[in-house]
Amino acid sequence: MTEHQKRDLVSIEDLSTEEILELFHHAEEFRQNLRDWSDVCRGTIMATLFFEPSTRTRLSFESAMLRLGGGVITAADSENSSSAKGESLADTVRVVGGSYADILVVRHPQDGAARVAGRYARVPVINGGDGAHEHPTQTLCDLYTLWKEKGRLEGLEVVLCGDLRYSRTIHSFCYALARFGANIVTMPYPGFELPEYVLLRLRRDFGVQAATAAVDDLPGIASGSNTAAYLTASKPHQLALFTNLTNVEVNRIDAIYMTRAQLERHDGESTLDYPRLTRSTLGAAAAKDARIMHPLPRVDEIDYEVDDDPRSIYFRQAELGVPMRMALMAFLLGKIQLRAQPPKVLATQRGIDGGATLRCHNERCVTNGEGVRYLDRDFRLRSSEAVGVLCCAYCEREILVRFLGDEKSRTFHAYGSPEGQAIPEPRRVHFETDSQAEAAGYRSADD
Ligand code: NCD
Repeated sequence: MTEHQKRDLVSIEDLSTEEILELFHHAEEFRQNLRDWSDVCRGTIMATLFFEPSTRTRLSFESAMLRLGGGVITAADSENSSSAKGESLADTVRVVGGSYADILVVRHPQDGAARVAGRYARVPVINGGDGAHEHPTQTLCDLYTLWKEKGRLEGLEVVLCGDLRYSRTIHSFCYALARFGANIVTMPYPGFELPEYVLLRLRRDFGVQAATAAVDDLPGIASGSNTAAYLTASKPHQLALFTNLTNVEVNRIDAIYMTRAQLERHDGESTLDYPRLTRSTLGAAAAKDARIMHPLPRVDEIDYEVDDDPRSIYFRQAELGVPMRMALMAFLLGKIQLRAQPPKVLATQRGIDGGATLRCHNERCVTNGEGVRYLDRDFRLRSSEAVGVLCCAYCEREILVRFLGDEKSRTFHAYGSPEGQAIPEPRRVHFETDSQAEAAGYRSADD
């Protein structure tokens, strides 16, 4: 596979909607008889590089590759790999992706690390979860399972529950749900709401405003006193998808997606009253046809007695992970072709150089972590109006650029002004504030 053909799956945005749907059909074919496909990737080697714990993701990838007839090499214990000696992820993937392996699956604790792997490896890279950023293959499994259960994704009412702040599976899932036209109701554990940057992106890129419901309303659903469930919005101004502006009226819940508290990314916050789905919580009329989903591992947030409920599909999600990942790897390795077009913009190209001034404000971003030693500060332009919205090319966190400097005249202008926009691209220097521009030795054109 040559460089320009290489595709990575780091964010769920790296696949177009049509590609995702086509992959479901391939997964269906693989699923019919998992043992029939040992010629598809014969002679191919997959490496799993996991710098965080994993059971399902790593084993389902390894199983998928073995079922496709390929081989597997693993560095699953970061204590026993050279990262423990201080080797960078970039160096590791440069070596492993090539003569050692034809495709890499990477899990890493820092946001944006998978994009680093994608940029430095010569072979396709799949994100197996990078910090709180994304977990796109979990989303493929989640969507595939829900699609099989409900026969569609468009128009579904999906309640996201629990730690929505740090759960990477939630982040990838809600971007995808928005893209497929599903409605999102968030039911966060208080203090663990969907982050503002996720909400912003849902609004701007998909025109979707997630409706927020208080987690206390979960028992309310169960009361069954109404045929409709009324979820009291904790932030009424966020309501847009629903007709009632003071309450979110959900007559039908198609799925409740529960997540565990992501303790490994917390700063010691208490999770004492963390929500818990029980048989009685799920007794509401509105939840009659709901599917209960969870990426697993489950800790205490779904009662074991719910496992036997026919609406519970969390073990099914994990099971379907094998055919789904078979389809994905066969595609990325060029063993199956898709008719669908890829996304218009592939995130692999370099964008705007942040130079000495711009830096990603996400402290958990790989550019502020191990990448501080070697990564360029690279940003992509997301929207350009009165201010420029740039996002970190790695963790995708956004920054607002209010001023543009001209490297030649050493003057700066408001971003959206005709003078600012007239600065030729190669001479542009981006600033978030005027004081940043002045500190860099630029003077305001208005002076
Ligand atoms: C998830 C993860 O690692 O983000 N696990 C998984 O891959 N199924 C969810 C979690 O750990 O809570």
